[in-house]
Amino acid sequence: MRTMTIVGIAGSLRRGSYNAALLRAASELSPAGITIDQQSIRGIPLYDGDVEDELGVPSVVEELKDRIAASSGLLIVTPEYNSSMPGVLKNALDWLSRPDADVARVFGGRPVALMGATPGRLGTALSQAAWLPVLRALGTRPWWGPRLLVGGASKALDADGRLVDQRVREELRAFMAGFAEFVGG
Ligand code: FNR
Repeated sequence: MRTMTIVGIAGSLRRGSYNAALLRAASELSPAGITIDQQSIRGIPLYDGDVEDELGVPSVVEELKDRIAASSGLLIVTPEYNSSMPGVLKNALDWLSRPDADVARVFGGRPVALMGATPGRLGTALSQAAWLPVLRALGTRPWWGPRLLVGGASKALDADGRLVDQRVREELRAFMAGFAEFVGG
């Protein structure tokens, strides 16, 4: 069986992040033949054009760019801040899009799926919507399957970050199967 690697990026620096926990669950519930390469945004500095001009793109960013470029797809697991995406995650994508000449290699035509978790009720719907112009700007190929909106995350996940809500587990399993099919097709 052909195996495919999907790079998963959780967009929170918090140790007990619900979104990092959701990424772990996505890895666990992915279909056979799919490996989720779980990445974090830790260590990515704030974007600074002077730093880029003087020192180039930081090695931590170049490494992540190469992982994405070598992958079959990208899974962005996004928190929601103030009805939009968190600045730390947007900053990471901004660095990953530098230099401009590399955008096509890293993101061009790349299958991308979005999901997210929040203790709130709307399950990151607004954050996910806010990502769409970014995915368009980068020339990705977003997957338009059913949205995975994990609200009430403090109940859906237990104290150890295990996804215990059976309904969400089944939704996540179906989501990963659908995205795997999109990536593989
Ligand atoms: C939040 N949070 C939040 N949640 C939400 O559903 N809608 C929102 O607009 C916001 N706004 C917001 C702003 C800021 C500045 C913070 C720090 C938080 C709550 C957020 O979902 C919660 O902190 C999650 O736990 C963040 O994800 P991680 O870190 O658990 O992955």
